[in-house]
Amino acid sequence: MTRTLLRGRILTFHADPAESEDNHRYIEDGAILIDDGLILAVGPYAGLRVEGVAEIDHRPNLILPGFIDPHIHFPQVQVIASWGTQLLDWLNRYTFPEESRYSDIGHAERMAGAFLDQLVAHGTTTACAFASAHAASAEALFAAAATRDMALIAGKVMMDRNAPEGARDTAQSGYDESKALIARWHGKGRLRYAITPRFAITSSPEQLKLAGALAGEHPDLHVQTHLSENLAEIAYTLELFPGARDYLDVYEGVGLLGPRTLMGHCLHLEPREIARMAETGTRAIFCPTSNLFLGSGLFDAQGLRAAGVVSGVATDVGGGTSYSLLQTLNEGYKVLQLRGQNMHPLAAFYWATRGNAIALGLEERIGTIAPGRDADLVVLDCRATPAMRLRAERIETLAEELFLLQILGDDRAVAETYIAGRPMKRAIAG
Ligand code: GUN
Ligand code: ZN
Repeated sequence: MTRTLLRGRILTFHADPAESEDNHRYIEDGAILIDDGLILAVGPYAGLRVEGVAEIDHRPNLILPGFIDPHIHFPQVQVIASWGTQLLDWLNRYTFPEESRYSDIGHAERMAGAFLDQLVAHGTTTACAFASAHAASAEALFAAAATRDMALIAGKVMMDRNAPEGARDTAQSGYDESKALIARWHGKGRLRYAITPRFAITSSPEQLKLAGALAGEHPDLHVQTHLSENLAEIAYTLELFPGARDYLDVYEGVGLLGPRTLMGHCLHLEPREIARMAETGTRAIFCPTSNLFLGSGLFDAQGLRAAGVVSGVATDVGGGTSYSLLQTLNEGYKVLQLRGQNMHPLAAFYWATRGNAIALGLEERIGTIAPGRDADLVVLDCRATPAMRLRAERIETLAEELFLLQILGDDRAVAETYIAGRPMKRAIAG
C-alpha cells in the first residue's frame, strides 16, 4: 500500500466557532499521512516524516478538509448565468427545457464528467446533487463519481406535473426508477442516494405520497427538495395544496421531514415551519449566490440557529452563479450584512467543511482532518492572483488570510484537490 505525506499549513475544525472558543486546530508546519484513501495521522511535520514515504510539499499553502456542497443541480451546468427572470419564469424559460435534454444518455454522460471536473477544480469533494427526472442522468452522474471515488450524494428528481412532458416522470415511474437507482448505487463505494422530489409545485399529491413511502422504506437515505424560496412560488404552492397549513406541511403530511432531509433556501418561513424544522431536525440550506441572482430573499442564519435549526451553505448552481464555496461564502457574508448579521471567517470555513458535513449527517467520515477520516482535502493559495498577492502583503493573522480567500478567492485559489487521497485537480488541468 502506498502511503503519502502531505506537508503544509493545516487547518481543521472540531467545533462551531459561533459556539465554542476551542473550535479549530492550526498547525503551521503540519503533515497529513494518507494511506489507502484514509487519513492515518495528522500533526507537526517533524513528528510524522518517515524515510521512504513519498512527500508532497504544499507550503506555504493551507490544507483544509475539502469543501462540501449540500445543494447543487447537475443538469444546470448550461443554465448557470441565464438572464432576466425570477424563480418560476427561470424554471420555465431556461431550466426545464435544458433538463429535458438529459434523456439523451450521451449528453448526460458528457455533462456528468464536466460537472464533476468543475467541482474538483473548485475544491469541492462532496456534493448533494439533483439530477434531471431521467434515470439515465442519475446513472451517468453516479458512474462518473464512481470512477473518481467521490463521496457523492445524488438522486433523480421526481416531478410529474407543471413542467414540459420531456422534463417529467409520472408518480409511479418516479417511485420505480428511484427504487431501482437506490438498489444499484446506494452504498456502492462512497456513493449515496437522495430521494429527490423537486418541490411541491412539480409533484402531484400522489407522487409526494410515494416519495414519503420511499423515505419510510429507506430511512437511512437523504431527502432533498426546495422550500420557501420565492413569494410567487409559496402562493402557488398554497393554491395547489389548499389543505396544507403552510408550505412545510405539504412535505410534513407525507412523512418527508427529519434529520436526513435537506430543504434548499428556507427564506420566507412561518414561525410554525421553523419550529417544526427544529423539532424534526430538518436541515435548512442557505444558497446565497442563487438567492441574490434570482432575487429570492435574504436567509436568516441567526434566527434559524437561535430556533435550533441546523443549516448548511451551498452553491445551488445553476440558480447559483458559482461552483466555488469561497464565492458562496463571499456572497453569504454580504447577505448576512444586509440582515445586520455577521459571518466571522473562521465560522465561514467551518460552515463549508465540518458544518456542511454535520448538515448531511456525515461528520464521522468527511469535513474534518483527523485519523480514520476520508482523505478529502483542499489546498488553498491566498496569493493566487495579482490582487490577492497585493492584499496578502498586509495580512497578519489566520483569520485575515481566510477572509481574503473568502472574498477574493475562487477556483484560481484552489492549488490542489484530493479525493480519497488522490490529487485530482492538476490531473484534470494537465
Ligand atoms: N425550485 C425548484 N427547482 C429549482 C431549481 O432547479 N433551482 C432553484 N433555485 N429552485 C428550484
Ligand atoms: Zn436548488
